[in-house]
Amino acid sequence: METDPGAASGRRVAGWRWEAPQVTAVSEQERRAGEELARHLLDIGVLTPEWAEALRAVPRSLFLPDPFWAYDMATSLSVPVFRNDDLARWARAAYENVPLVTQWDDGQHTGDKPGSKATSSASMPSVVVSMLRDLELSDGMRVLEVGTGTGWNAGLLAHRLGNGNVVSVEIDPAVAASASAALTRAGLGPRLVEGDGREGWPVGAPYDRVIVTAGVRNFPAKWLEQTRPGGIILAPWGTHYSHQDGLVRLAVGEDGRAVGPFVRLVEFMKLRDQRLDWNLFGGHVKEFPGNAEGSRTSLTLADIGSRYDAADFVVGLCVPDCAHVVNVGDSGEEGDAKAWFFDFLSQSWAAVVFSPGAPDATVYQSGPRRLWDEVEQALTWWISQGRPAVDRFGLTVDRDGTTRPWLDTPVGVLPSFGDDRPRNARAGL
Ligand SMILES: C[S@@+](CC[C@H](N)C(=O)[O-])C[C@H]1O[C@@H](n2cnc3c(N)ncnc32)[C@H](O)[C@@H]1O
Repeated sequence: METDPGAASGRRVAGWRWEAPQVTAVSEQERRAGEELARHLLDIGVLTPEWAEALRAVPRSLFLPDPFWAYDMATSLSVPVFRNDDLARWARAAYENVPLVTQWDDGQHTGDKPGSKATSSASMPSVVVSMLRDLELSDGMRVLEVGTGTGWNAGLLAHRLGNGNVVSVEIDPAVAASASAALTRAGLGPRLVEGDGREGWPVGAPYDRVIVTAGVRNFPAKWLEQTRPGGIILAPWGTHYSHQDGLVRLAVGEDGRAVGPFVRLVEFMKLRDQRLDWNLFGGHVKEFPGNAEGSRTSLTLADIGSRYDAADFVVGLCVPDCAHVVNVGDSGEEGDAKAWFFDFLSQSWAAVVFSPGAPDATVYQSGPRRLWDEVEQALTWWISQGRPAVDRFGLTVDRDGTTRPWLDTPVGVLPSFGDDRPRNARAGL
């Protein structure tokens, strides 16, 4: 490794190869911050006594690079936090109940400033511990984790089950290397595999549990093959309609299919090859509104739903191959927004323009699909069902990875609005 003059202070200097100085011991400030975090997670009811013990034994800060990027609620910016600059601040940030970005742009980004896309992180502690609780582990179980990231979750699992029972797969070589170093510092040694987690790791199969810590859009059949009948797969799954994932807890049956309910909404960075590429829609809107067909809708911005709203997730289950985004208007007034909808397979698009105080919104639609009509039908159906929460929905995954979402029972298939291609032939479902 080459070193540079900034390395001693933990700073990256442009033009130099740099490696994070390694934190080998946990300071008293970090230990106290860790205790506070554990108390908070117990208070909000996500941490069980079993996992509280693991949290104390496997300190999160040992797994964080220097710097990491914390999200500043006040400015909506990701800010780098350096251990050597201010240990007290580092300790607070390391043990806040927030996700911390640990890599940008698949490692292509250098420097202290945030890059354009967060590609690895230390997940939010409350999400980590509730997913561990959802696994319902017992002694001797074998677990496959997809998405090692910092290695903290793999460390918690290895502490609970023993190194020999935990395998974790990470696609990014640099991320995998720092997870491995962190686990060594923590005195733990689960099996780390550098590779594409969509392949699982057949050498260690069958697994009692598979836990996926990156968002899934197309379900890999390999995970089903490598889980023993009666085993559980816990994965954040969703469609490209939104960034939202539904955390699904699937039980694998003797027939090799997996069935189970969504537990709650979460939001994970997606598996590397399953990210939505917004450039796909770059040529859709040649002119706005151009000769798009105009109409009106009485549905509101609130009806479309936003982050962590079931509507945002459920529409994606019912309207195939559609992505959407809501842009807030420049006026800054509440209710000033434009919602865009784009088709994956044709150049169809729709836009709904919401204006503050207006009784209804203006709709523009262009191309062979009438995307807003499909979304409106899906929302109207969901509202007519009494706006069911996400935990009334579930998913069946066939042996080949085909996914079939349902409401209340696996025999009830959801309505599908839009074109009549079979679900298998569509992207994102
Ligand atoms: C949210 S982070 C995981 C957090 C982690 N479990 C922890 O405890 O810190 C998601 C990770 O998944 C990795 N990843 C993305 N696609 C992957 C793939 N196809 N196979 C394996 N890992 C993948 C990313 O590089 C990233 O490190």
